[in-house]
Amino acid sequence: MEERPADSSERVVSLAQIDMSPDMKAEDQPKSRTEADDAQQERALETRDLRVYYGDFLAIRDVNLEVKRRKITAIIGPSGCGKTTLLRSLNRMNELVPIARTEGQVIFQGQDIYAENVDPVEVRRRIGMVFQNPNPFPKSIYANIAWGARINGYKGDMDALVEESLKRAALWEEVKDKLDQSGYSLSGGQQQRLCIARAIAVRPEVILMDEPCSALDPVATFRIEELMRELASTYTIVIVTHNMQQAARVSDYTAMMMLGEEKAGGLIEYDETNTIFTRPSDPRTEDYVTGRYG
Ligand SMILES: Nc1ncnc2c1ncn2[C@@H]1O[C@H](COP(=O)(O)OP(=O)(O)O)[C@@H](O)[C@H]1O
Ligand SMILES: [Mg+2]
Repeated sequence: MEERPADSSERVVSLAQIDMSPDMKAEDQPKSRTEADDAQQERALETRDLRVYYGDFLAIRDVNLEVKRRKITAIIGPSGCGKTTLLRSLNRMNELVPIARTEGQVIFQGQDIYAENVDPVEVRRRIGMVFQNPNPFPKSIYANIAWGARINGYKGDMDALVEESLKRAALWEEVKDKLDQSGYSLSGGQQQRLCIARAIAVRPEVILMDEPCSALDPVATFRIEELMRELASTYTIVIVTHNMQQAARVSDYTAMMMLGEEKAGGLIEYDETNTIFTRPSDPRTEDYVTGRYG
């Protein structure tokens, strides 16, 4: 997991103020690139014949999905079709479920994150996650950001990192005068932005979001959607949503999942969001996005 894409220099420069690892400075990046590198760098993640079991139960079957870099990919589909399972397999979060077992590969920067020599903690730092219900730590707003960064070995200016992360999560103006107050004192939408700030603070490349707005009111939802669009200039985002309007509004690509044989979920269609919503090739996708699926 040591290799970084050659063109990450742009992101590194933009994050220069929170220089966490000196080995990532722009001048150290290789200058020459091949076409294969370019193709590689358009992909943030790629699953290959991914299957996840819970005990004997096959929850998702043979998922082959290519997640594009610095784009928003929405995963949609009826309840129970394996959206959360797929999302959680993208950063090895499924391993925290004792009976879960994963087969196949998830390629991240040229390497299978499930390979033996890969540290799952490092995978989860570089591929972060935001959950359905905002889950700040029972700590101050400041500590919510600082804690993960410290655990991950951040030794730079913590005040600067907290400010930068909260600014990127569009929360700074609302909390800058009460950083010592509990994260729980914030509204639901603010708590979710705090969780996004916390995810950003450890400098991930990918952020996974599982129905991040389902507990929020429409105004808070709108702010998170707006924030996602801003974040997509820097990060790759994969979002699970049951809200078709949301998928259509925020995402660049949409992956449609559905239950197949023996109740195993699978990817039935994947395309640009516009195509999925206007001229899908699978009639099941059309039924689902137009609300006819019953
Ligand atoms: N921890 C678990 N243990 C056993 N079965 C699970 C677990 N999590 C999910 N499942 C099963 O896997 C299938 C897919 O679930 P999930 O990924 O949560 O679907 P979705 O997010 O699309 O609603 C469902 O049948 C669900 O019951
Ligand atoms: Mg789910």
